[in-house]
Amino acid sequence: MKQRIAVVSGGIGGLGTEICRHLAVAGHRVIAADLGVRTERIAAFRNEVADLGDAVTFEALDIGDFDACAGLIRQIEAEHGGVDVLVNAAGITRDTTLRKMSQEQWHSVLTVNLDGVFNLCRNAIEGMCARGFGRIVNISSVNGQTGQFGQTNYAAAKAGMHGFTMALAREVARKGVTVNSVSPGYCETAMVMQIAPEIREQIIADVPVGRLGKPSEIARVVTFLVAPDSSFITGANIPVNGGYFMDF
Ligand code: CAA
Repeated sequence: MKQRIAVVSGGIGGLGTEICRHLAVAGHRVIAADLGVRTERIAAFRNEVADLGDAVTFEALDIGDFDACAGLIRQIEAEHGGVDVLVNAAGITRDTTLRKMSQEQWHSVLTVNLDGVFNLCRNAIEGMCARGFGRIVNISSVNGQTGQFGQTNYAAAKAGMHGFTMALAREVARKGVTVNSVSPGYCETAMVMQIAPEIREQIIADVPVGRLGKPSEIARVVTFLVAPDSSFITGANIPVNGGYFMDF
């Protein structure tokens, strides 16, 4: 069977790294796309995936830049024949109450977390439809479902991601392309470690499972959704949050 090509935005991040690993172990050729400026983190990432050989490679990309996204997708199409799996895992926080939020804090979160999804999907979708196969997974957040104090920007972007997911899922459902969201709760990542310890402890106390999630517990769900035989799941949002938010 043809080896499928997966692109993971935010691929060197807390969740992204683990998603790259799981997809590679599941047999994909994975391209981790992330900002090229964090040289120490890129070096650490290369070490973390070294055991996977050339199944995981890194490409520098600013997902806020539409033309750069177009260029990367074109390059992958030329080198590998196309993108089969796209995981939008790039995300940033600029937490502060709306009363203090600057336009820069608003725009930077919306640009990375939401424009980034448009920029990559818009460039990858045509090829997926033409080839009759595609899997898109958008990494949203429990905080897009519930809102969170100090996150009007982030919650708006993450809720927006799922609206995007549902709309695109309808558009491409007959082309062999599925589009789903995964909404992680609080996980063991650098992003969550930025929260003040007393606030983080309170959040963990409110998680029924009683702990933070592990990135591998998110990656497992992504790998499930991108499998060829997950073909009847589309437009869904899969919560993976230790019971922090339960919905019907
Ligand atoms: N709930 C209720 N009240 C709160 C509060 C909270 N969580 N946090 C602060 N307040 C109160 C303060 O006590 C203060 O009250 P007074 O005005 O009476 O003194 C008031 O709200 C304003 O507080 P600050 O001036 O400290 O607010 P701030 O603008 O500096 O922002 C904050 C506070 C840093 C955003 C803080 O609320 C916070 O860390 N919130 C949690 C953010 C969070 O969970 N981020 C998740 C990041 S990880 C992630 O996003 C991954 C994922 O997908 C799950």
